[in-house]
Amino acid sequence: MTTPDLFAEPAAQPEQLRMQELRAQLHHHAHQYYVLDAPLIPDAEYDRLFQELQALEAAHPEWMSPDSPTQRVGGKPLDQFASVRHAVPMLSIRTETDTESSGAQAFDARVRRELELKDADPAVEYVAELKFDGLAINLRYEQGVLVQAATRGDGETGEDVTQNIRTMGQIPLRLPSGVPSVLEVRGEVYMRRDDFEALNERQRQRIAQGEKGEKTFVNPRNAAAGAVRQLDPAIAAQRPLSFFAYGVGEVSNGKPGDSRFATHMELLQTLKKWGFPVVAQVDTAQGAPELIAYHQRIGAMRDQLPFDIDGVVYKVNSIALQQRLGFVSREPRWAVAHKYPAQEQMTTVLGIDVQVGRTGKLTPVAKLAPVFVGGVTVTNATLHNEDEARRKDVRVGDTVVVRRAGDVIPEVVSVVLPADKLEAGRGPLFTMPRLCPVCGSAAVREEGEADYRCTGGLFCSAQRKQAILHFAQRRAVEVEGLGDKLVEQLVDAGIIHTLSDLYRLGLTALAGLDRMADKSAQNIVQALEKSKLTTLPRFLFGLGIRHVGESTAKALAKHFGQLNAIMDASADALQQVNDVGPVVAQSIHTFFQQPHNREVVEQLRACGVHWPEGDPATDGPKPLAGKTFVITGTLPTLGRDAAKDLIEAAGGKVSGSVSKKTSYVVAGAEAGSKLDKAQELGVPVLDESALLEMIHGRT
Ligand code: IVH
Repeated sequence: MTTPDLFAEPAAQPEQLRMQELRAQLHHHAHQYYVLDAPLIPDAEYDRLFQELQALEAAHPEWMSPDSPTQRVGGKPLDQFASVRHAVPMLSIRTETDTESSGAQAFDARVRRELELKDADPAVEYVAELKFDGLAINLRYEQGVLVQAATRGDGETGEDVTQNIRTMGQIPLRLPSGVPSVLEVRGEVYMRRDDFEALNERQRQRIAQGEKGEKTFVNPRNAAAGAVRQLDPAIAAQRPLSFFAYGVGEVSNGKPGDSRFATHMELLQTLKKWGFPVVAQVDTAQGAPELIAYHQRIGAMRDQLPFDIDGVVYKVNSIALQQRLGFVSREPRWAVAHKYPAQEQMTTVLGIDVQVGRTGKLTPVAKLAPVFVGGVTVTNATLHNEDEARRKDVRVGDTVVVRRAGDVIPEVVSVVLPADKLEAGRGPLFTMPRLCPVCGSAAVREEGEADYRCTGGLFCSAQRKQAILHFAQRRAVEVEGLGDKLVEQLVDAGIIHTLSDLYRLGLTALAGLDRMADKSAQNIVQALEKSKLTTLPRFLFGLGIRHVGESTAKALAKHFGQLNAIMDASADALQQVNDVGPVVAQSIHTFFQQPHNREVVEQLRACGVHWPEGDPATDGPKPLAGKTFVITGTLPTLGRDAAKDLIEAAGGKVSGSVSKKTSYVVAGAEAGSKLDKAQELGVPVLDESALLEMIHGRT
């Protein structure tokens, strides 16, 4: 007989085992959902498991555990945050001031000099990462359990924000077995752009409903920082925060000095394996040329990322070399931030104009004190429409945040109101004029539309100018040299009334214009002559039919082959075309029902504008006929346009939003809400290779 061991744990009860099992399952599903964006079970099933655990925990508080998934939001509001002294200081990164490629070169040259490398020595290997625009957090795990989360603060001492960070689904509360007994993971808490927009929308509704103390946020960074430093964890829990890991602080595995990682890349891969989100766009780079290539590649895709970055970060990959390089005043010599030009700046609103577009749309435009943003000097920024202008409450004299991202038209993001600015001291709220500011015709806002439109049609000189410029642009029939200044003069002088008047322009009329040399007049006449031979899609697009962009024009031309067939098609017949829904079909049909539009076409033809006409499309097998696809995220090899072209060539349709009618969602990296929607509606999800298999019939 053995003596009973008084110190042995009592045998676990079935309910206790069930609780452990539920916690493990819920941790796993939370990781699938929040980190991998690939849920394995429906939300309702997750909720059921969660509730079962909650009930067991209520019945057995003695078996409660702080790392339980039920304990993410548990804490009470705080009066203030406790301060935390970091075990290992949280450093900052030196910023390369030069935003050009030479920034990467300067860094590589410094590293090589510090390492005393000769020109003949091989390239230094780096890891290139994104520089997230959020705030740095240190997550401390002891025995695999999250025990503390702290802000960076001054680098030595930060604030204890554990309660708030625990509410973030992307942050593991417990790590797999085998992790170091003390592990500090460092990374950035940020807010995705779509989450930020949705949050601000909710905030606006709260404000509209008269809730006190609510405000909208200026940008995702501020919203994220506000949420992390929120004293009430229940409020923090409602803020959609995300996280990317990029480094470690204290790491111990009982053997001091035993560094676990040989390279930074290995560290990132291990963090990923342990359940932390690591951004997909990390890469190794050999020497300056590959750093430059990375900087350019990320710069080109910056606006497609679902979150803000303000640059990229280069880090020496070898940890041994990092240690040899060491630090200068809180900044490691082995890392540098290489920025991009800022996409947001502040400036002053000098006035608000209303511009009339090609289709009569009235757009309020803020006239700004010139400001350098997104690489250019901006003096105008769109306010989109009356509702937007009023919602943002932009007024003359206000200080505003202006954003220019990529090729997108600069826009006013928000007004920055100093706390002491009184309503009485501000200009009046913007109101859209009820008459077109150019031609004086009535401006109307149709039911359910955000835009006011001038009803003047081609009587309105602003619409006429835009219609001509649209027709003459490079992507339409292309009349080289016919720019806005020239069109402005031609219309204002009454020389041109309709599109076909363009082709009646003679040298004398042109040469009589302001600042028009004989040579330039000749060039325009030649360009007009050259533009007469065009293609059906370009001509159709050039007509400026509402809702008919380049790709619709191409699809129409391909389907019908000839212009007359399109002009005489019923709305139903038009809907048979790829990508053409009821609204677009109606718009095309209505356009060609107008005698004056048919006349414009006839006159242009009479002036000699022509194109090769073809037969209605009847080519090749159409494996995707009748199927509608939605593309989301970044596909590994195909660009979005290429994927769209392939689907369309195989007879499928591509749509922008997921609905019950969607046949498949094609998802790549960083797929977001569309993927969620597909899962919610039970729409099958394909990856790029599955799509290609469907198209090429390979298995
Ligand atoms: S590493 C030893 N990596 O930049 C270097 N920081 O000045 C420690 N940041 O506030 C930082 N993206 O929050 C690192 N991929 C990245 C980063 C990154 C953004 C922020 C970090 C810190 C600042 C460093």
